[in-house]
Amino acid sequence: MSKLRAAARSGRGLQQGAGEGRKSPRRCRENVSSHKGETLLPAQQSAYHLFSHVAEIKTFRKNLLAWYDKCKRDLPWRKLAASESDANRRAYAVWVSEIMLQQTQVATVIDYYNRWMQKWPTLQALAKASLEEVNELWAGLGYYSRGKRLQEAAQKVVSELAGQMPATAEELQRLLPGVGKYTAGAIASISYGQVTGVVDGNVIRVLCRVRCIGADSSSPAVTDRLWDLANSLVDPARPGDFNQAMMELGATVCTPRAPLCMECPVKQHCRARCRVGIRLLGKAAFSCSQAPDIEECAATGSCSLCLPASEPWDSSLGVANFPRRAAKKQPRAERTATCVLERRGPRGEPEYLIVQRPSSGLLAGLWEFPSLALELGLKEKQQREVLLAHVQAWAGEAVARGRLRHVGEVSHVFSHIHQTYVVYSLLLGGDHKTASGRRDKMLERPAFRWVTQAEFQKAAVSTAMKKVLNPPNPTPWDPWEWGEGLSPVHSPRGSWELGGES
Ligand code: ADE
Repeated sequence: MSKLRAAARSGRGLQQGAGEGRKSPRRCRENVSSHKGETLLPAQQSAYHLFSHVAEIKTFRKNLLAWYDKCKRDLPWRKLAASESDANRRAYAVWVSEIMLQQTQVATVIDYYNRWMQKWPTLQALAKASLEEVNELWAGLGYYSRGKRLQEAAQKVVSELAGQMPATAEELQRLLPGVGKYTAGAIASISYGQVTGVVDGNVIRVLCRVRCIGADSSSPAVTDRLWDLANSLVDPARPGDFNQAMMELGATVCTPRAPLCMECPVKQHCRARCRVGIRLLGKAAFSCSQAPDIEECAATGSCSLCLPASEPWDSSLGVANFPRRAAKKQPRAERTATCVLERRGPRGEPEYLIVQRPSSGLLAGLWEFPSLALELGLKEKQQREVLLAHVQAWAGEAVARGRLRHVGEVSHVFSHIHQTYVVYSLLLGGDHKTASGRRDKMLERPAFRWVTQAEFQKAAVSTAMKKVLNPPNPTPWDPWEWGEGLSPVHSPRGSWELGGES
């Protein structure tokens, strides 16, 4: 299943925009949308999947915006968009929020957003930041390339565009790395009032339900129709609020599994609800304000927007038959051995060795405990041998096999990888200079540093690595393998604590 459709169905990745990945910008079909002179969509599609009546579009807008004005969440980027009089600063504030909101829930983003805006309130401030600082602030938010690209784009605006943000959706998309069609539309409508619709995972769900679109919403043809619909609906007087209201509706009412249809401000426009009601109660009993001739698509069976015949209606799902559920692609399984290499610092406090990942690829530039991808099916003994060789180089000293201790496993799901970290620990003896004293031998290695617990928490490390040091649910220790005295204890803080030798 595509990321986008998965997002629409599952509610994860709520703000990834449809068509965001496309290279060349396609012009909005303003010639067929209603906001310019209220013209109608192309005639070859069944009216069942369209908004064909200007009066209905106007009522839809009015109902949605009235609900939004009353029920919208109080979010920091909304406050900034409403209060900031400088267009550049406003667009920057919205841009940051939209990038953070891609693939991440609102509740998670708020704190990151506030810290980011406090640290870099302007484009100019962000352009001066280092990638390390960006990664440190982004740590835990996931999809780290977003922060990197945001910072690169800010540098571009400062150095190539004289510090001026592009002022239309088309230019935002064309000129800013990391800004796709959705993000460009969101920034332009929210911060500049450009009359352009947006389509993200939440909007897809709302549109597919209100117009019973059951065809694969990730296909380019359906995606184009969804953009047409969004452009036909957007309110010309309040495009930014309208777009946010559509997203808000998808996030809080028209949710993936248990939509709150009774609270929906546009339920009277919802063809999925109408269809469910009629199927359940019959035409006579279910009052559906929509005309009888559009209760079902006239072209059923050959319509490119209907639920395909191969995916029959599931009455247990109700309106959640839309968007259509597709087979979920399972993340591939990988195993990585990772070693928490520990020494005593100058005041006897524990310090840990972290090394920097390559500057491209997964978790680019982030820091981690020395780690090694494991071949699937490797036995524990073999794992240990491979890791031991790797870790000796970092330790800068020969390490007796028995000192490398297997402490458990930690799982972390990245977007496409189910990663299992096989966690080992190694406490280095001697004084704290042991490893750094051999720095010369390590010069050709990636950057590395020793950090205290507190420094580790502030460093640019992924959530997965934080779990390695402080596992939420450590796997049970096997006393038969290591003996009672050596068992790790789950400390109140949730870290692996090693009993036995230190
Ligand atoms: N998702 C992405 N941007 C949003 C916004 N401005 N309001 C609500 N949800 C969003």
